[in-house]
Amino acid sequence: MKTVVITGSSKGFGLEMGKEFLNQGYHVAFSGSNEQNLNNAIRSITFDGEKVASMLCDVRNRDDLQNLWDVIFKKWGRIDLWINNAGIAQKAEKLWHSSTADVKNVIETNLLGTFYGTQVAVNGMLKQGFGKVYNTVGFGSTGMIRTGLNLYGTSKHAVAHFTKAFANELKGTGLIIGTLQPGMMVTDFVNAADGSIYNKSEVQNIYNILGDLPDVPAKYLVKKMIDNNTNGKLLTWLSNTKVIFRFIKHLFVKRDLFNTDAHQK
Ligand SMILES: NC(=O)c1ccc[n+]([C@@H]2O[C@H](COP(=O)([O-])OP(=O)(O)OC[C@H]3O[C@@H](n4cnc5c(N)ncnc54)[C@H](OP(=O)(O)O)[C@@H]3O)[C@@H](O)[C@H]2O)c1
Repeated sequence: MKTVVITGSSKGFGLEMGKEFLNQGYHVAFSGSNEQNLNNAIRSITFDGEKVASMLCDVRNRDDLQNLWDVIFKKWGRIDLWINNAGIAQKAEKLWHSSTADVKNVIETNLLGTFYGTQVAVNGMLKQGFGKVYNTVGFGSTGMIRTGLNLYGTSKHAVAHFTKAFANELKGTGLIIGTLQPGMMVTDFVNAADGSIYNKSEVQNIYNILGDLPDVPAKYLVKKMIDNNTNGKLLTWLSNTKVIFRFIKHLFVKRDLFNTDAHQK
């Protein structure tokens, strides 16, 4: 049976991707850095015990990622897909206000965590002879600039570049690496992004126009990842056409993604 490992899958988008992979008949390894979040995640899903593993893994630590590969490979004998999804938001503030700890944490989690995860997965996949790696990007990956999101945007821009460059390096190996662009999702991430620049209602307004609960892009992108056989592919949920359509739709239909407990999943 095919296997997927997802970093940062104890909540939000990662958890929803894991659930969808279970629906598609995969073995799924869920992971995160916080034990309570991970336990809550496992309690929230219905599954046949043989199909699910959960492991603590802090992506800022390469040894944790290597251990995640080793344990899951030993358990199921193959890893078909590895998704570097763990990521954190920045407080919306101008970069000169950001603390050293915040800068370090965002870069170590979003960028170095993806670097290390990709290295570990590719080394393992080269030995097993097959596999696909996907890296989750977000705001900044297309080069868009917004006041207060410099740190996060830089980290995701770098992940997009790194993934493209890695695809070039993987040519001829038979392995595939690609980029996942899930759009804007109402998860804990949105609250973490609170800061001095934008107030809550401004942030919620734009999410209500363009955003989704995380299960929506997860369902769409899991299928795309399974079907994709092209190295270097960018898999996008919120296309430019969809953005235009959503702005027009917003003139007629108002959504309130924050007034539901669905996003607490
Ligand atoms: N929400 C959006 O609008 C949006 C848009 C585009 C892209 N994204 C990206 O989508 C990904 C998932 O975000 P989300 O919206 O689902 O946020 P979320 O609900 O906050 O989930 C983030 C996940 O990453 C894990 N994580 C955080 N720090 C970690 C660390 N050091 N080591 C391992 N795991 C860690 C969290 O678990 P623990 O805290 O338990 O470790 C959690 O499972 C991120 O890469 C984010 O940048 C989000």
